[in-house]
Amino acid sequence: MKHYLSVQDIDSLPNWVEEARDLKKNPKKHRNLGTDKTIGLLFFNNSLRTRLSTQKAAMNLGLEVIVMNFGSEGWALEYADGTIMDQGTSEHIKEAAQVISQYCDIIAIRAFAGLKDKEEDESEKVLNGFKKYASVPIVNMESSVGHPLQALADAITLAEQNTKKRPKVVLSWAPHPKALPHAVANSFVEMMQLQDADFVITHPEGYELNAEITRGTPIEYDQKKACENADFIYVKNWSSYTDYGKVLNQDKSWTMTPEKVGKAKFMHCLPVRRNVVVSDDVLDSDQSLVIEQANNRTYAAQVVLKKILENN
Ligand code: CP
Repeated sequence: MKHYLSVQDIDSLPNWVEEARDLKKNPKKHRNLGTDKTIGLLFFNNSLRTRLSTQKAAMNLGLEVIVMNFGSEGWALEYADGTIMDQGTSEHIKEAAQVISQYCDIIAIRAFAGLKDKEEDESEKVLNGFKKYASVPIVNMESSVGHPLQALADAITLAEQNTKKRPKVVLSWAPHPKALPHAVANSFVEMMQLQDADFVITHPEGYELNAEITRGTPIEYDQKKACENADFIYVKNWSSYTDYGKVLNQDKSWTMTPEKVGKAKFMHCLPVRRNVVVSDDVLDSDQSLVIEQANNRTYAAQVVLKKILENN
């Protein structure tokens, strides 16, 4: 594997999950794999889990780590070819990616969707710009369209908790005051499509995700009905995809509550808004897997970095 840009870069989800679970038992098993190599973590947006877990994973493999808050500390980048750069941008991605490639053996990037221009977001200009001009492997730490490190951590968590051959897994929209991207939901859907599960998505009408990603996954507009007899309920807000980037409603009746969760395990990628997305009594219950999901971010990142180091 050269790059890890999306869930589609996983050649065998069961094997990767098994490898991650093995690394979790012995995180320092490959402590010398990254010796004398450096990973650069470039953040165009905020992070807690992705930043620390990817750094931890890299350190477990013996990599040196450079972190840059590119969004607030780097030069404003230009992405278009042939532009006369007499406006706000100071440096072209062409030079930036080549320069960083001289300092780093792997470049990991977080660059969220702007949620203003669907076409621009779907072009993944930051991630693809680095892929095009860098000479080293690129890792997606959440882009406009996907969050494949989160999805891999979620697959590890499901595997650890699942006792059924074909569990019922629900992805539920929840209200949120701000417009949020589709990346986590998209990658979760793509990951679930690689699993044998009774998988259903529930959201209010108007919140349909990109049909090219959901590809016929059942949608149930009645959240209570969708959650009946679920084994796992993954809750996440996203803004409208069709009315791109808009908050169409903040219907509190979609907040996840113990009544809807029933006996299911509750999942969320974090950070989460308490008593908006999910009630305290769900989040603080034994049924909540959110802390373990965050723990598994380290082993998801570690299996990805290990594969890149082994193949490059
Ligand atoms: N789940 C996740 O990516 O968390 P951060 O935004 O804090 O990195």
